[in-house]
Amino acid sequence: MALQQKGMHGTWVSRWTFIMAATGSAVGLGNMWKFPYVAGSNGGGAFVLMYLACILLIGVPVMMAEVMIGRHGRKSPINSMRDAVDDSGADPRWGYVGWMGVAAGMLILSFYAVIAGWALDYIFEVASGNLIGVNGASAGAVFDQLLNDPGRLVLWQTVFMLLCVGVVVGGVKRGLGVAVEILMPLLFVMMLILLGFAVVKGNFSAAWAFLFSFNFEALSWRAVLEAMGQAFFTLSIGMGAIMAYGAYMPQNANIGKTILVVAFFDSSVAIISGLIIFSIVFATQGVEPSAGPGLMFISLPVAFGAMPGGVLIGSIFFVLVSIAAWSSAISLLEPCVAWLIETKNMGRITANLLLAGFAWLLGLGSVFSFNIWSEYKLAGFTFFDFLDFLTANIMLPLSGLMIALFVGFVMKEEAVNAELEGTPSLVAEFWRTTLRYIAPVAIAAVFVMGIYDKFLS
Ligand code: PHE
Repeated sequence: MALQQKGMHGTWVSRWTFIMAATGSAVGLGNMWKFPYVAGSNGGGAFVLMYLACILLIGVPVMMAEVMIGRHGRKSPINSMRDAVDDSGADPRWGYVGWMGVAAGMLILSFYAVIAGWALDYIFEVASGNLIGVNGASAGAVFDQLLNDPGRLVLWQTVFMLLCVGVVVGGVKRGLGVAVEILMPLLFVMMLILLGFAVVKGNFSAAWAFLFSFNFEALSWRAVLEAMGQAFFTLSIGMGAIMAYGAYMPQNANIGKTILVVAFFDSSVAIISGLIIFSIVFATQGVEPSAGPGLMFISLPVAFGAMPGGVLIGSIFFVLVSIAAWSSAISLLEPCVAWLIETKNMGRITANLLLAGFAWLLGLGSVFSFNIWSEYKLAGFTFFDFLDFLTANIMLPLSGLMIALFVGFVMKEEAVNAELEGTPSLVAEFWRTTLRYIAPVAIAAVFVMGIYDKFLS
């Protein structure tokens, strides 16, 4: 039993460290960069409602299931999943779920580092005062200049990757644990400063109305699929990050309560980011909420450039985004690192360099998709768009579906109950029903309709 309590990688110091780490993983570019622009291009309100429904009815139950598999096995996702499969006497093919997750993690890390690099670059772009007084067109030109400069993109992608390696080589307690305990509170404080700024200087009421007035006519199945993909992406579920972090969770922490806290923090940051960004967008002439991926990098600088103190506030904003991306990316790296250490007997440093190097190399594809390869399309997508769509809207939901079915129907009852210890039976029943019936049916339906809508209709 003692072995069951603790794996070879160690555990978080406390439940609170797990909460900070899981929130650090969840809160990232998905909340600050992607959520506002995806909500914006899907018309706002109704999309937001679908997204929140997906978080509660699919995200939370699946996230709990992932943590359970992780804490049960206390190993990297691939091995924890295999243990759970063996333990339950299930078909070994269930083990592929762990593999698919880890593959998704590497793919996400590859493009994530590129976008995070934009944010790093913009800290200096804004701080230098270059963007003072820009309008929509000139801010767009500054952003295009960045996208058209592969050398600069690669430089920042590399810096970001090194930052991640720097944390993950430190291991669970001294690396990841210490990093999130410093970064996350800092992130919340910065976020509140920016929110205050948006309320005072921006058009807060228009932002509120945009995010919370529900216009269902604007909602298509494709948009619902995107809302679901966004829910998976933002909670970091379906790829093993949360399973790996769950493996380091103290045995006495209550999984349900803990995950609800994480999901609450994550959704709050997404909504607050949306409020900040749209308050500023609606207060600025000539910038559209549906601007797409450039929303954060074009419209915000216009606003920052027009406001007194904008250079300082703008720099703080991009520091904030970079920190959020950093604490997420380390959770993309850790599961694979843990796996190489366990299975290949590799040292932490070697494992880190190998995987980060691989993701970096693959990331060059995304770098070039913004410039020299922008004409090459795969099923209508650039390389970057393709990876983004493939991971968020296909791989994560599929592995989420498998995890729900596995823990719901296949995993040994006693193992599941042991992880539920201390949970009131009514809550446990509610979770089980949602995991068994609501989440899988919802994932499958949205998936089929969304794909049909996107490609076949
Ligand atoms: N949740 C992170 C975000 O919203 C992205 C992420 C996905 C991180 C999957 C880890 C695993 O930015």
